[in-house]
Amino acid sequence: MTEQATRTVTIEQAGEKLRPADLHDLCDAADEAIRAGGGFGWLTPPGRELMERYWRGVLIVPERILFIGRLDGVIAGSAQLVRPARNNEAQSHACTLTTAFVASWARGNGVARRLTQAVEDEARALGYRILNLDVRATQTGAIHLYERAGFTRWGTHPHYAWVDGRPVAGHYYYKDLTLSPPASQPNESQP
Ligand SMILES: CC(C)(COP(=O)(O)OP(=O)(O)OC[C@H]1O[C@@H](n2cnc3c(N)ncnc32)[C@H](O)[C@@H]1OP(=O)(O)O)[C@@H](O)C(=O)NCCC(=O)NCCS
Repeated sequence: MTEQATRTVTIEQAGEKLRPADLHDLCDAADEAIRAGGGFGWLTPPGRELMERYWRGVLIVPERILFIGRLDGVIAGSAQLVRPARNNEAQSHACTLTTAFVASWARGNGVARRLTQAVEDEARALGYRILNLDVRATQTGAIHLYERAGFTRWGTHPHYAWVDGRPVAGHYYYKDLTLSPPASQPNESQP
């Protein structure tokens, strides 16, 4: 029997700028994740220049907070918390977890679970009561992850996405942050 090495998962909030090496690694991880079944909008990788512009844009949009997940120090995935627009007073209680992905080489180590937890913790810390998300019905891994994390499915859109010339359904979820206590752990090594 071979012994499994302990992998280290760390999650951080990106600041307003990414170091060039981190931007490069984030683009690599996203490219790879898109090729391996994506999940965050793109069906094929958009080319490096556009991808870099995308991430730089994320960093300067005030409503977006980017969380980066590392496995053994290498950027392996990310997720974003999107706050409601300032004019949206009626929905100022709710924010959204979006564009989550983990590169396939890093999957199965708890990176997505820890990213989800980090987004949830920040949503609570910012005073939001509800965390929303949506996911393609074909993303079974993500569906398992979010249902295990206590998200409630409240609806399914039959024409949520359009992939390979066909409509793909998508599920909509929410989590009531006022009902569940924060269960966050500090950066840890176990999945
Ligand atoms: C879904 C995804 C984010 C999971 O990332 P990951 O880092 O491997 O997930 P974790 O290791 O944190 O696992 C979290 C849970 O999900 C489960 N899981 C992960 N991938 C799974 C899969 N393909 N099928 C079933 N369950 C899966 C794990 O077993 C674990 O469950 P547990 O808590 O009951 O043990 C990743 O596979 C991915 O990026 N997929 C494509 C894009 C996508 O679906 N994005 C999210 C929607 S926008």
